[in-house]
Amino acid sequence: MLDERIKDEGVEMKKVVVTQKLPYPVEKNLSGFKLFYNSKDEQLSRDILLREITDTDGLISMLSDKIDKEVIDAGKNLKIIVNYAVGYNNIDVQYAKSKGIIVCNTPHILTETTAELAFALMISVARRIVEAEKFTREGKFVGWTPNLFLGTDLYRKRVGIYGFGRIGQAFARCCRGFEMDIVYTGRSRKYDGELLTNAKFVSFDELVSTSDFIVITAPLNETTKHAFTIDTFKKMKRDAIFINVGRGPIVKETDLAYALKNGLIRAAGLDVYEFEPEICKDLFELDNVILLPHIGSATEETRYNMAELCVNAIKNYLETGDTPWNTV
Ligand code: GLV
Ligand code: GLV
Repeated sequence: MLDERIKDEGVEMKKVVVTQKLPYPVEKNLSGFKLFYNSKDEQLSRDILLREITDTDGLISMLSDKIDKEVIDAGKNLKIIVNYAVGYNNIDVQYAKSKGIIVCNTPHILTETTAELAFALMISVARRIVEAEKFTREGKFVGWTPNLFLGTDLYRKRVGIYGFGRIGQAFARCCRGFEMDIVYTGRSRKYDGELLTNAKFVSFDELVSTSDFIVITAPLNETTKHAFTIDTFKKMKRDAIFINVGRGPIVKETDLAYALKNGLIRAAGLDVYEFEPEICKDLFELDNVILLPHIGSATEETRYNMAELCVNAIKNYLETGDTPWNTV
C-alpha cells in the first residue's frame, strides 16, 4: 500500500540501513522502506557504511560501528540513528544532534538480562566454575579432595556497584537473595534504588577499599573512562573479585592484568574490553580471570525485543516525525 502511495505521489521511498544481521524479521517489518540490510553476522565494513549512508534516512547501528563525524557528515539525508545497544559511546551524539539527527538506544528491555549475566560472572568467578569445568573435561578429576577448587562465598559479603543505574539496581536485587551487603557509588544518590535494594551510598574510595566484589555496570563517558587503574587496584582488598559488564575503557586493561598476575586482587570476570575485540594478551595466560565475548544482553528474547524496539523507532519516526521514547 505504502509503496503504491509513494509511487502515485512521485515521492521516493525512504531508506534505512541496518548494519548487521539481527535475530528478528527485519525485511518483513521494514518492507515499506528501501532497505540496505547487511544480513551477515559480521560487522559492516567502514567503506560500505560510508557508501550506503550517503542517501539513507535512518540507520540501525551496532555498538561495534563507529558513528563519528565522518559517517554523520556523509549521511546527508540522515534523520535518525538507532543503536542496537543501551550504551551509545560509539556514536558522536553531540555532533549528530548539532546536525538535527536524533539518536536512540535500547534501554530497559535488556536490564534484567545484563544484570543476570553480571551475576552469573560473579558467581562463576567466586566458585571457579570455568576452571573447574575445564579440569573435569580434561579428565583430571580422579577423586574428591578437601582442597579441590576452593572458591569464596557470596553470602553476606560486601558487593560494591559502580554505576547504579537500571542495570546496577537490577543486579543489586539479585545480590539481595544472597544477603549481600550492597554499596554503590556515583555522581548522585539514587534514593529509589536504595529503597528497592537496600544499597548504601559510599565514596568511590570506600567502595574500592572495602568491597569483596566490585562490579562495573556503568556506561562509558568522560567521568568513567579509566576510573580503574593500577592505583585503584592497589587500594582493593587482596581477596577482591572484579567484574566488568559495563564498558572496557572504564578500566585500564594492562593495569588489571598486572593486578591479577601479581595478586593485588583475587580474580576477575570480564564481558567487555578496552580495545574490543582485542584483548590484552596477558589476560589469556591467567587462570584467575573469566573472559566472555560481550554477551551481556545476549538472550533470544532480549535480542529480539531490542531489534523490535529499533525497527519501530525508525519506522515511527520516519513515518510520523514523533520523537521515539528511547531517544537519548
Ligand atoms: C551492550 O553492551 C549494550 O550497551 O547494550
Ligand atoms: C542501563 O540501562 C542502565 O541504566 O544501567
